Amino acid sequence: MNKFFKCFLVWLTAAAASFGAAAGPAAVSSPDGRIAVTVSTDKAGRLSYSVSRDSHVVLAPSRLGLVLRGVPDMADGFRITKTDRRHIDETWRPVWGEESEIRNNCNELRVSLAQPKTAPGRAISVVFRVFNDGVGFRYEFPRQKTLQDFVIMDELTEFAFTAPHRSWSLPVEGIRFYEGLFRELPLDSIGWASTPVTIRDDQARLSMALHEANLTDYAAMNVRATPGSPVLRAALTPWASGEKVFVTDTRVTPWRTLIITDNDGDMMLSRIMLNLNEPCRIDDTSWVRPARYMGVWWCYHMKTATWEDGPRHGATTDNVIRHMDFAARHGFDGVLVEGWNHDWRTWDFSFTRPYDDFDIDSITAFGRAHNVALIGHNETGGKTLNYEAQLDSAMDFYHDKGVHYVKTGYVGDFLDNRERHSSQYGVRHYRKVIERAARSQICIDNHEPVIPTGLQRTYPNLMTQEGVRGQEWDAWCPEGGNPPSHTVTLPFTRLLAGPVDFTPGTFCFENPVFPKTRVLTTLAKQLALFVILYSPLQMASDQIENYEANPGPLAFLSECPTDWERTLYPEAEIGRYITVARHAKDSDTWYLASATGEEARTSTVPLTFLTPGVTYLATIYRDGPDADYLTNPTPVTIEQRRLTAADTLTLPLARSGGYAVRLTRI
Ligand code: NOJ
Repeated sequence: MNKFFKCFLVWLTAAAASFGAAAGPAAVSSPDGRIAVTVSTDKAGRLSYSVSRDSHVVLAPSRLGLVLRGVPDMADGFRITKTDRRHIDETWRPVWGEESEIRNNCNELRVSLAQPKTAPGRAISVVFRVFNDGVGFRYEFPRQKTLQDFVIMDELTEFAFTAPHRSWSLPVEGIRFYEGLFRELPLDSIGWASTPVTIRDDQARLSMALHEANLTDYAAMNVRATPGSPVLRAALTPWASGEKVFVTDTRVTPWRTLIITDNDGDMMLSRIMLNLNEPCRIDDTSWVRPARYMGVWWCYHMKTATWEDGPRHGATTDNVIRHMDFAARHGFDGVLVEGWNHDWRTWDFSFTRPYDDFDIDSITAFGRAHNVALIGHNETGGKTLNYEAQLDSAMDFYHDKGVHYVKTGYVGDFLDNRERHSSQYGVRHYRKVIERAARSQICIDNHEPVIPTGLQRTYPNLMTQEGVRGQEWDAWCPEGGNPPSHTVTLPFTRLLAGPVDFTPGTFCFENPVFPKTRVLTTLAKQLALFVILYSPLQMASDQIENYEANPGPLAFLSECPTDWERTLYPEAEIGRYITVARHAKDSDTWYLASATGEEARTSTVPLTFLTPGVTYLATIYRDGPDADYLTNPTPVTIEQRRLTAADTLTLPLARSGGYAVRLTRI
């Protein structure tokens, strides 16, 4: 036993003694009885909870509470006045997603609390929901005479892990918009980190992830670690003035969530986050349609065209129509157009004033005739006040033009030069945009967001978001491109927070602007990422010329669905490799895709998920002879085989390579 762990056991015993006394603990277990949560108060009335799975302690007693401004804290003096329990078991159908049905099966424990000495008359609750694959809990503050509007200065919420497990996270400071490489660090060394934090308890063989669900009118929950202690504490993003949250009409916090599963694959199948969001609030969702799209986009990052008007302007009518024509002929549902509006020279944006050489009426007419959507773009430069002032007119404008998708963007260190993107200020703004867009039947692809928390259940028009170090970093980042492990780490980290607009599908490995920076994968891995990195709006990032030069692989992007009936992970290890099998909605077709990091490997997948007794035609796109991400990224072998559920598919992957397979019923 190492020195750290010994010290920790001493602390654990002391903590258990100090938390153990007073009011009898309240307990609740998951429906399968494996995960148990206990809530109790100590002699000083401090509230804590602990979590175990089977008999293994996952979280030792962990403090709950809030520090408030100008009124007594919700920190101690607590008395449990009542406990209520209920079982929830329902199945619901998301408008789009990685599966067509989601089961919400959990046991709820509502702990009602009073603080008779410190805050007489005040009544609050903590509500736990325990699922077979994890736990969620939140604070609730009913409006009452002694608790009107108030200000949260800090959360005391702890997550007392029992050892400095291996973990993967992003730091809050020094990374903008979550565009970083996930660091693998012992839990006590992560400093101030954003969630999701992915955690591996190697001793107990548990794959876990800490995050939150339903971030509404609150600050994003980051966590803070203290060196030498495996206890994480909630550390909310502050307003510039230091407060964390102004509580007014929303009287509940977001749910704090911990996924607890046996392996990395099951962790990715957890739907706790979605289950802890509210049901869909949009009555008619017929206009919310998953789509494959391409764009007048990579040309800007390759500097072959400009966002601003001038001789090399990208968003000209002719160029957009050329893209729409290509999209129509190659199975893409939409074309994103950036640089269409005034004024990219000053970044003083109008969201309704097109450049003179962008004729939106001809473009949308062409799109309608060819069944290709115009995907609009509202880069705000982080000036939310300017955007909000134009929000109604912008959404009306798009609605009038028949545009149903808009990509929003918030490039800038701070919103309105002052507030952090993940602060309550940012959260309020993003919500305003989603709700207003829904009223005009517009779907949103949000870049530079606050980390997603499952709001797409309630507002399925929030289709995808960036909040990732995406493929654009392969155009210009000084370190040469995203390392091979990045894309096989994201599914186990960032994607636990929801769909991602990573924009895979770059087929060109030469960069005229930054010759030392390029996509660090094979071409076959780019196809695999189209299936692996889930997004209901999935972008093929490259330029027309590079697709025309590779018609074989393009055929896969041209028909790969973005909405699924069912998802499975036959092979998965964070940072090393991932294989996903997805059943396309309303069809008999399965897609299988695999990607590896730095190491070449052989993927072996028993095809037991296929319907027994049926023969499938497999069209396989895999790394070609001698493919290698550094020396020879482009060879792709395309072949067909007949396979059944009794077969096992064994395929080689090059270094940073991959494969994508379509299996259609014959
Ligand atoms: C950053 C976004 O991630 C990128 O997609 C976009 O092209 C630029 N901002 C300009 O808005």
